[in-house]
Amino acid sequence: MKRLPTVFMVIGLVVMVFAGSENNVLANADNSKRDNKVLSIAHRGAAGYAPENTMAAFEKAFEMKAEMLELDVQMSKDGELVVMHDTTVDRTTDGAGKVKNLTYDELKRLDAGSYFSKEFAGEKIPKLEEVLDEYRGKMGIVIEMKSPSLYPGIEQKIADTLKERNLDTPTNNDIIVQSFDHESLKAFHSILPEVPVAVLLDFNPDGVSDQQLTEFSSFAKYVNPNKTMIDKKLVERIHKYGMETYPWDVRERESVKALIKAGVDGVITIYPDYVGKHQKKE
Ligand code: G3P
Ligand code: CA
Repeated sequence: MKRLPTVFMVIGLVVMVFAGSENNVLANADNSKRDNKVLSIAHRGAAGYAPENTMAAFEKAFEMKAEMLELDVQMSKDGELVVMHDTTVDRTTDGAGKVKNLTYDELKRLDAGSYFSKEFAGEKIPKLEEVLDEYRGKMGIVIEMKSPSLYPGIEQKIADTLKERNLDTPTNNDIIVQSFDHESLKAFHSILPEVPVAVLLDFNPDGVSDQQLTEFSSFAKYVNPNKTMIDKKLVERIHKYGMETYPWDVRERESVKALIKAGVDGVITIYPDYVGKHQKKE
C-alpha cells in the first residue's frame, strides 16, 4: 500500500517533465502568451551571435526565445527562393557574384558561416521552404522581399510557397511579408490578402505624413521604420491608423528601452535577448 503514492508521484513527475518540454518547444509561438507583449524579432536571425540568415542564426533566435525571426528572400538563377540579404554573395560567403546569376546548386555549395567566425564554417544559404518547414509553429516568421524588382514573379512564388504549407490563413501573426518596395508589397497583398504585410521605411528626415499613413493602412498591417524615426508621437499615429510597428536595426540595449518606452509593438534586433518581457503600452 505504501508504494502506491510513490508510483503516482513518479508518474506525475514524468507527466510534468513531458508537458514542460512540450511547452518549451511551443513557447515562442504561443499567441496567448505573446498577445500584449512587446515582441522580440530576430533580425536576419540572431545575427549578433551567428552568421546572418543561416539556420545557425535562426536556431540561436529560437533558443533565445525570440517570438519571431526576420529573414531576407531573393531568387536563384533557376527560380529557387533563397535566404540572403545582399544581392551578391561576396560579403557573407566564400563565393562571388550576383544571387540572381547563380543556380541553387551553386549557391548551396558556398560557405555562408566562415565570414562570421570559424566556428560556423560550412553553414549553408538556406531555402525559404527549409526555414518555413523548420520553424513554422515554433516562431513567427517575417519574410522580407529583398530587391524584388530584380526577381519578376517573386511575389507569386512566395505566395505559392506559403499556400502549399497552409500558411496563407489569417492571423496569429505567424507570417508577415515586408519590403521597402511598396509596389511589390501591394502586388503580394493582392495575391494573398490574408497574409499581413509590413511597409519598411528607411530613415527620412521629413518623417511620415498622414497621407502616407492613410495609403499604407489601405493594404498594410504594419509600418516598420528604421529605429531612428521612432518617437512616441509616430507610434501613436501608426496605431491611430490601425497599424502596428516593429522598428529595426536595433543594436544597443538603450535603444531597445527607448523604443519600448515609445510604445512600439515589437523590436527587430540582431540581439533578440535584449528585448526581455515587457507589456505593450495601452
Ligand atoms: O526588418 C527590417 C530590416 O531587415 C530592413 O533592413 O537591410 O537589414 O534588410 P535590412
Ligand atoms: Ca531584412
